[in-house]
Amino acid sequence: MTPARSGTHPILIEQDVVLARQLARKLCQECGMRLIDLTKLVTAVSELARNTVVYGGGGHMDWDIIEDQARTGLRLTFRDEGPGIPDIKLAMTDGWTSGGGLGLGLTGAKRLVDEFVLDTAPGQGTRVTITRWA
Ligand SMILES: Nc1ncnc2c1ncn2[C@@H]1O[C@H](COP(=O)(O)OP(=O)(O)OP(=O)(O)O)[C@@H](O)[C@H]1O
Ligand SMILES: [Mg+2]
Repeated sequence: MTPARSGTHPILIEQDVVLARQLARKLCQECGMRLIDLTKLVTAVSELARNTVVYGGGGHMDWDIIEDQARTGLRLTFRDEGPGIPDIKLAMTDGWTSGGGLGLGLTGAKRLVDEFVLDTAPGQGTRVTITRWA
């Protein structure tokens, strides 16, 4: 698996969530992703980018178009230097929110992608990496 092309996109305010969605959509199209898969990935981007703004205090979305022998995909990492998540198991429970949300962002995003990795600890910020193959 080699990254064919990559970049990074700041996510500081709500407007950046919209821009992150637009960028992800464009990258999915470059990967030749079907509309159904594109829609799933862009929905996951909305949730993760919003968490970056709301809980992480802003951060970045790193992107890689990846290729293996057989296929092309898009890998995105949402990273922030916010407070981190003290209890990953709880955060990955449907309906659990520390704020006034629905508590469906992380679990929903996980269901919408092929690979989902959450790396976080209190005081260490949060990184969520998702991959969707075309
Ligand atoms: N980047 C982050 N930094 C710190 N805490 C986070 C981050 N992302 C998620 N969390 C924590 O995980 C919880 C669950 O996140 P999730 O997105 O699933 O639900 P939510 O944001 O509360 O509600 P919604 O369904 O509206 O997204 C959040 O309430 C928050 O406590
Ligand atoms: Mg959320």
